[in-house]
Amino acid sequence: MIDVVILAAGKGTRMKSALPKVLQPLAKQPLLAHVIHTAKQLHAERIITIYGHGGDAVKQRFANEQIEWVEQAEQLGTGHAVQMTLPVLGRSGFALILYGDVPLVSKATLQRLLDASKDSGIGMITLEVADPTGYGRIVRENGLIQAIVEHKDANDAQKQITEINTGIYCVSNEKLHQWLPKLSNNNAQGEYYLTDIVAMAVQDGLEIASIAPEYAFEVEGVNDRLQLANLEREWQRYQAEQLMRQGVHLIDPSRFDLRGTLSVGQDVEIDINVIIEGDCTIGDNVKIGAGCVIKDSTIASGTVIQPYSVFDQAIVGENNQIGPFARLRPNARLADEVHIGNFVEVKNTTVGLRSKANHFTYLGDASVGQDSNIGAGTITCNYDGANKFKTTIGDRAFIGSNSSLVAPVSIGNGATVGAGSVITQDVEANALAVERSKQFQKGNYQRPQKQK
Ligand code: UD1
Ligand code: CA
Repeated sequence: MIDVVILAAGKGTRMKSALPKVLQPLAKQPLLAHVIHTAKQLHAERIITIYGHGGDAVKQRFANEQIEWVEQAEQLGTGHAVQMTLPVLGRSGFALILYGDVPLVSKATLQRLLDASKDSGIGMITLEVADPTGYGRIVRENGLIQAIVEHKDANDAQKQITEINTGIYCVSNEKLHQWLPKLSNNNAQGEYYLTDIVAMAVQDGLEIASIAPEYAFEVEGVNDRLQLANLEREWQRYQAEQLMRQGVHLIDPSRFDLRGTLSVGQDVEIDINVIIEGDCTIGDNVKIGAGCVIKDSTIASGTVIQPYSVFDQAIVGENNQIGPFARLRPNARLADEVHIGNFVEVKNTTVGLRSKANHFTYLGDASVGQDSNIGAGTITCNYDGANKFKTTIGDRAFIGSNSSLVAPVSIGNGATVGAGSVITQDVEANALAVERSKQFQKGNYQRPQKQK
């Protein structure tokens, strides 16, 4: 049984932001959301978050989550923070201690920590670093961990130690109830150090388990915007590598951003500066041009997306040709072999097999059948200022350029609409409809003059 305890009471002064630190975004999700997501993947019995500064905003952001909140009104140290949980912490099972500003620790690494800690009752994640300045040092004797000494409390010999404390531990709840009340703040910083439980465990004759993270970025914390940006880059680089290992051709992995999850087929090619958000699925041989932003969308095999197209909640069939500069909005559903060209916006609309809208068009609240051609500049006038109405276009229809289809209206199978028409009545199958104002000419026309 695992209780996850997340320390998130720090002010985050160095962010210089009105937004609490743990709500700052990494890959578009608050730092704390990453930690909560991982805790859930571990099937934690309870998630207890210790909050302080900016607590209301933090609680509000996670109001829909099954989280218990414990306040630490005054920040007297990491040990003091965990002490705050004692009244609610169970007596059996283990506590996994994580941090709201250390967002990227992985499920796999934590699972290894849990497994390693089971027998002795206490385990931790440590890391060898080139520059240990500022970190708590791991003091070992004959290979066994004896204590953690904070940088400010360390003597010269201890300062040479390059194995550092990441701050992540797995501890038996029973032991926490024994040890935490005994912490003192008799140290260089006058704080209640959580790290002191390690020496207490040694005194109790326990052997402290330790593991290293698979990747260093998993245990990196965020204190300022520089560290936030660096961690974002490390995360993006890691995700790009995972995708390349799955066979994705990223033209430049340093210019690709995934802010969510992406599942991909084979031989997907992604040009530079593409952003993928939310949950996306991309089939085999899809090509995505430079600068596209694709959110919560599904794109089937063989589709080619030209540069600077923007998708949001779109479902795209096979072998489509889309863009450049196309915009697919929520519930755009395109069948196979559809062409959507430049400056075409599609919202809440289905487009059938082989139909085309190649230039400057708005299709909103519409359905288009198969093999229809929507001429340049066609607009479905779906909104009367108060309500929205549907436009239905059948199969093999031809809509002449610069037509306005005033919904509710339907255009039958095989019907033709003359260019420049404003269609306000249904058009029968196979009919030609032209609705234009009559031609009007006046000789010697004087344009209005500007009034003095
Ligand atoms: C801590 C560890 C140090 C370790 C380092 C890793 C202690 C005493 N030291 O040091 O060994 O190498 O982390 O980064 O634990 N927090 C609270 N309430 C408090 C104090 C802190 O919620 O009263 C939270 C902070 O918001 C932060 C985290 O705990 O997320 C770590 O606190 P911080 O003061 O940064 O600890 P360090 O001095 O870095
Ligand atoms: Ca710190």
